[in-house]
Amino acid sequence: MTPDHGDLLYEGKAKRVYAASQPDRVLVEFKNDATAFNAQKRAQLADKGRLNCQISARLFERLEAEGIPTHYLGLASDTWMVVQRVAIIPLEVVLRNIATGSLCRETPIAEGTVIDPALLDLYYKDDGLGDPLLSEARVRLLGVVEPEQLSAIEQLARRVNDVLQPLFADLDLQLVDFKLELGFNAAGQLLLADEISPDTCRLWDRRSSDAQDRILDKDRFRQDLGGVMEAYGEVLKRVQASCADPRNCM
Ligand code: TMP
Repeated sequence: MTPDHGDLLYEGKAKRVYAASQPDRVLVEFKNDATAFNAQKRAQLADKGRLNCQISARLFERLEAEGIPTHYLGLASDTWMVVQRVAIIPLEVVLRNIATGSLCRETPIAEGTVIDPALLDLYYKDDGLGDPLLSEARVRLLGVVEPEQLSAIEQLARRVNDVLQPLFADLDLQLVDFKLELGFNAAGQLLLADEISPDTCRLWDRRSSDAQDRILDKDRFRQDLGGVMEAYGEVLKRVQASCADPRNCM
């Protein structure tokens, strides 16, 4: 079902953002498009939008219950979310609890190394530049955020990890790493934004010891492992078991 919406404001790789009747809100439509490697690899995955929207809504509500400010207001339908309008900070904030992915490609750190406290990596959100990894000095030079805002961003990201890691562990899912995006609302409040889903988190199934079978996230698509939507469906099934049905907001 498509809810009433205003003009298309922005279209990203996995979501479209539309104006809502209230100026401080926007409507987010989760798409079935899957992309990887800066959109060099593309596919349509039936039902991905619904699965990511449903998983994200439940996780945002849980984070909110733990006192973490998010842009999420409620669902408008199976695949549409109502959120606060924010100015997205052009940083991708990645937290890593277990070494894998680009960390192991770019450094000698062994795959599977436990990282505690989690490693926080900042990337510049710019598809044209391929989302490059930043140093703190480069963040300062770019001036995308004030130094005190950067420490608020880091603190918020670590609180998200502190909530999500045990939440997923209770569901036999290991939160390997994840990517967050944040923004400021009209009042200048820092909010967690974007989505939290198997598109943006690596989740390993603790019920499987097989290095490929245990992958329940977008790495199945990136690595052509098949069963992508089955994996996302399994994540939703487990999240549903511990999180209440999300509220409606229309
Ligand atoms: P990486 O190991 O490829 O740097 O990915 C780290 C985490 O960030 C992983 O959970 C996947 C997520 N991620 C995104 O959400 N979007 C991206 O564009 C990339 C490269 C990674």
